[in-house]
Amino acid sequence: MLRHTTVGIIGGGPAGLLLARLLHRAGIDSVVLESRNRAYVEQRQRAGILEQTTVDALRACGAGERMDTLGLVHDGIELRFDGRAHRIDFPSLTGGRSVLVYAQTEVVKDLIALQLDQGGPLLFEAEVHAVEGADTERPLIRYTHRGREQTLSCDYVVGCDGSHGVARDALPEPVRRTYQRSYPYSWLGILADAPPSYPELVYAHSPRGFALGSMRSPTVSRLYLQVPNGTDPADWPDERIWGELDARFALRADPDWRLRRGAITAKAVLPMRSHVTEPMRHGRLFLAGDAAHIVPPAGAKGLNLAASDVIILARAFIQLSETGTTELLDAYSDTCLRRVWRAEHFSCFMTTTLHTDPGHSPFEARLQLSQLARIADSRSASAELAENYTGPPLG
Ligand code: FAD
Ligand code: DHB
Repeated sequence: MLRHTTVGIIGGGPAGLLLARLLHRAGIDSVVLESRNRAYVEQRQRAGILEQTTVDALRACGAGERMDTLGLVHDGIELRFDGRAHRIDFPSLTGGRSVLVYAQTEVVKDLIALQLDQGGPLLFEAEVHAVEGADTERPLIRYTHRGREQTLSCDYVVGCDGSHGVARDALPEPVRRTYQRSYPYSWLGILADAPPSYPELVYAHSPRGFALGSMRSPTVSRLYLQVPNGTDPADWPDERIWGELDARFALRADPDWRLRRGAITAKAVLPMRSHVTEPMRHGRLFLAGDAAHIVPPAGAKGLNLAASDVIILARAFIQLSETGTTELLDAYSDTCLRRVWRAEHFSCFMTTTLHTDPGHSPFEARLQLSQLARIADSRSASAELAENYTGPPLG
């Protein structure tokens, strides 16, 4: 039975697993408690784009092998609007940066395999109910594992339990501040056994709504369509999805262009919102990843923000263990929040610039097109997008 650990980690998503690996490499012990079973966590379809900082951290903790074999380096994205295509070239606009297309499902599989093979305990089906004594020297995690109530005492607790987790509840109301925004649309996301019809990701704005063409491998496409909130995937038979994607990706210069089609193997509606909880620390409890902040997905930031939080936190724990100083731990919330708010701004900008807002007047719709034209025509506006998309270095 587990009684005590240095760092108790709630949640075995990308944030919790990466933190556990980074701590393990530094000789700091931890326990990861994950409420779901392994198969569920490994198959949950989510993000697909890794920034350099995330890639570097995965390599540094030994999880780079499959990523370096299967990941696809992308040097740019395409913006489509007004029936035209514009490429944003990352390396020339950012001093050499690019991104890696490698699915979150694969990142999670790699981290779980490593952790089970050579890390500290990682318990599946261990549901945390509460964190107690966050502002004491010995915080406690209360959880149920295999039907039994358990308690884990910790030097520190890290809530990596996503947007519906319980760790955030341990921040008392008087110190907790939340900021949020909702959007009047969702995404219908599909996976298809079809080779991607585009060499790089395509972000398409059209009067019919936004569409995104991404990929998981040279034979699997990942595609998204803007749909109204509350959409039932059952109202979108496969033929309707392909027809709508073709219409939104249409190019005036190439009217015969069509997506390559294939069997649709997954179909889900994803609502979107922006949310930040501040501060990201209370006493000996730290929040990381979606437990502290949510971004709408158009900027491809959610997974990367989760990774940068735990990289910053791991450095702080390593400083504490090596020197006894808490300087970096004390700065954790402020350090992360600077990056978080930049990503919140960029994600909101990408979302509102690319989607068709049902509440917009014709005037606002023309402003949106003007903004897109500015990005296409101006090097500095393209560079602004490229720098944000590829992510700032951690320093
Ligand atoms: P999570 O991945 O949510 O992991 C949290 C973990 O904690 C989960 O495994 C959960 O089971 C566990 N947990 C929760 N409560 C408890 C508890 N009480 N006890 C124990 N364990 C608990 N980002 C993009 O950039 N692009 C995308 O296309 C994209 N698509 C997304 C689609 C969906 C449906 C969602 C929800 C998110 C998407 N994101 C996307 C965001 C990105 O996937 C997240 O930002 C990323 O998963 C954050 O990682 P995390 O580890 O912080 O949280
Ligand atoms: C993917 C998702 C995103 O939200 C995005 O901006 C780019 C790619 C993806 O799932 O591949």
